[in-house]
Amino acid sequence: MQNNPDQFSSKIGFVLAAAGSAVGIGNLVGFPVAAAKNGGGAFLLLYIFFVVAICLPLILAELSLGRATGKSPLGAFREISKGHKGWVLAGALSLVTPFMIAVFYSVLTVWLLGYLVLVLGGMLDQLATPVYFGGFITSPWIFAYLAAVIAMVIFVLKGGVRDGIEKASRLLMPMLFIMLIGLAVFVLTLPNAMAGLKFYFTPQVDRITWSVVNGALSQAFFSLSLGMGILITYGSYLRKQDNLVQSAKMLACTDTGVALVAGLMTLPAIFAIYPNTNPSELSDSSVGLIFSFFPNIFMAMVPKFGYAVSSLIAATFFLLAFVAAITSLVSIIEVPVAALKAESKKTRNAALGFVIAAVSVGAIFSALSFGQVKWLSEFAFYSGANKSLFDVLVDVFYDTILPFNGLLICLLVVWQWKRHNMAAEMLNNNGSSGWLERYTHFAIASWIPVILATVFVITVINKFMS
Ligand code: PHE
Repeated sequence: MQNNPDQFSSKIGFVLAAAGSAVGIGNLVGFPVAAAKNGGGAFLLLYIFFVVAICLPLILAELSLGRATGKSPLGAFREISKGHKGWVLAGALSLVTPFMIAVFYSVLTVWLLGYLVLVLGGMLDQLATPVYFGGFITSPWIFAYLAAVIAMVIFVLKGGVRDGIEKASRLLMPMLFIMLIGLAVFVLTLPNAMAGLKFYFTPQVDRITWSVVNGALSQAFFSLSLGMGILITYGSYLRKQDNLVQSAKMLACTDTGVALVAGLMTLPAIFAIYPNTNPSELSDSSVGLIFSFFPNIFMAMVPKFGYAVSSLIAATFFLLAFVAAITSLVSIIEVPVAALKAESKKTRNAALGFVIAAVSVGAIFSALSFGQVKWLSEFAFYSGANKSLFDVLVDVFYDTILPFNGLLICLLVVWQWKRHNMAAEMLNNNGSSGWLERYTHFAIASWIPVILATVFVITVINKFMS
């Protein structure tokens, strides 16, 4: 089926679409900040180790599961386990996870669009005032931006796999790479940028604690779009003749490469403008950094470059982050759409309409959890603090469930599918088995599940029971 619109048209089409999913706010901001705070070069090495030793085998497992069954997570879990109830439930978790992540990620995407529009409207100076962000996220404007983001997602997903997701990625991803490299080169020419680089690359092994290890693993899962059912779904759109192992390697390299380059942009920018920065004092959340700290960095460029040029640089940054975010959002909403379409035998558009309506309601709730509505703002209480709905979704689905879903995938492959079936699917059209296939075969049934189970238990205790 050379021209099936429900499949990616080529390996490169797949890699761009999967990179569209993987490259997101996590790469552009989450990764550089985590690296700066948690031991610079030591964090970097730890992160790369997790990507190769744990995530790559799981990328292969998810893609093979998807391609072998031709289904999204729920269908794939059901088919592989021959309808076993427990496993169908696990498949359902792989559906709830992307939905919940979509709910909080769409709010971040909305804020990015808002800041892009405001910078273009000449309001950079106001964005840089400390109170602006708090006012912005509680203003009714949010809903207008939400409507715009949802409209863009519908526009892409309505086109289906090849003419929607792949086409948008082919256009947007090269644009993203150019903006990222342009900004990194610009930042590296600023005086004092080298102090940022030094910080980025110097390994401080004493900073590596348990929570740093856990953070590096969650970050790697989130960044590679693992444990969200996305790669199972995208695997089901891969052609049988495309080389799955090479695609997985290209995906991991692109995503990690973007994260590393984003570090070359973010940290030197911070040091160039604030030479006395102590990175361990950087805001804990990427959110605080993007929306409160960065506008200040751009404003600090005004004496040198003028207001218009500084605003243009700021706009490029927010456009970059917005493009990264919207391509990720598209991929995560595709998972429940594909599943609903298959389960209910509805048309794609009907499934899309239903999922979009549900995500919009969820997004409105989480957008209202910043003080506007009390029960949403004080949604739960743990770790000695009130947590908003937004915080709960991040803690549960980003920090805790992603590695757990990874564990379920390992167990499904080893106990139900059997590793030789996975090997056969991976190797389809790939000649003989290379180091990665051999390593995956061993690791997925041994230490990967052990590590993931340990991380899950310790995270639950640390996060929710202390
Ligand atoms: N990989 C994305 C990032 O790094 C995370 C993500 C993927 C979020 C897909 C939503 C959907 O930001």
